[in-house]
Amino acid sequence: MSYETILTETDGAVTIITINRPKALNALSSVVLAELIEAFAAYQADDSQLCAILTGSGDKAFAAGADIKEMSDKAAADFYLEDFFGDWTSKIVKTTRKPWIAAVNGFALGGGCELAMMADFIIASDNAKFGQPEIKLGVAPGMGGSQRLTRAIGKSKSMEMCLTGRMMGAEEAERSNLVAKVVPHDDLIAEAKKTAATIAGMPPMATIANKEMVNSAFEMTLDQGLIVERRIFQILTASEDKKEGMEAFIEKREGNWKGR
Ligand code: CAA
Repeated sequence: MSYETILTETDGAVTIITINRPKALNALSSVVLAELIEAFAAYQADDSQLCAILTGSGDKAFAAGADIKEMSDKAAADFYLEDFFGDWTSKIVKTTRKPWIAAVNGFALGGGCELAMMADFIIASDNAKFGQPEIKLGVAPGMGGSQRLTRAIGKSKSMEMCLTGRMMGAEEAERSNLVAKVVPHDDLIAEAKKTAATIAGMPPMATIANKEMVNSAFEMTLDQGLIVERRIFQILTASEDKKEGMEAFIEKREGNWKGR
């Protein structure tokens, strides 16, 4: 499949999706969104692919936000009637049940920061910069920033970031729990691939189940989340991979996963 604004490749069971508009700092135009929807759907549908990485091309940006040039002349009625930004959550986050990692290689601003936070977790290069600068454009986050950033780093820091529009560097982002780990810039893709390959080596149904459980912690009360966790755990105990995983442990060998 060839695209205009993104690149896709596979490395074993790992899919790598790269936003490829380096001259525009990988700004998220409607074409990027449409192509990412297709690429994530293709990843989700391909049983040979077990973990994905999303990154940006070039050394400067993961994505510097929604495409300001595309939005500048658009009328409010169009934003509302198109449910602008609605597809990111409904067609990428909700439909991608398999895991994916954001490998943030530079600016992740506005929609870029919000897209990174849609991933299951973020690995950042030491030159990464995160921010929600929409206030400087007279608007506010529209792809989840006010919600996901606040859940990730807490009210005080999130409020300060949104109200000042300042950028947060990689070290502060790790300290604030926005990212899982920071690695030297040149090692970013190798490290992301290593982590993705580890995940891809896990029993695939258990991977989806673990993702669903952790996500439910953001969407439910503790009591509801604990019930979801227990029920999914109980369902997994009926899987062939549970039998294989426990036998493999006892026999001191690697598991041979069926994915069911
Ligand atoms: N949309 C469209 N084009 C963008 C862009 C964006 N979000 N960010 C950068 N670009 C373009 C620039 O216009 C420039 O294009 P030209 O060469 O044609 O002039 C090119 O990318 C390089 O950018 P700069 O020359 O500005 O590069 P810099 O190194 O001087 O600055 C930057 C880098 C600080 C990231 C700066 O580009 C910047 O502030 N970008 C905008 C960041 C922003 O406000 N993002 C939020 C967008 S709104 C949003 O995302 C809404 C939402 O909640 C979903």
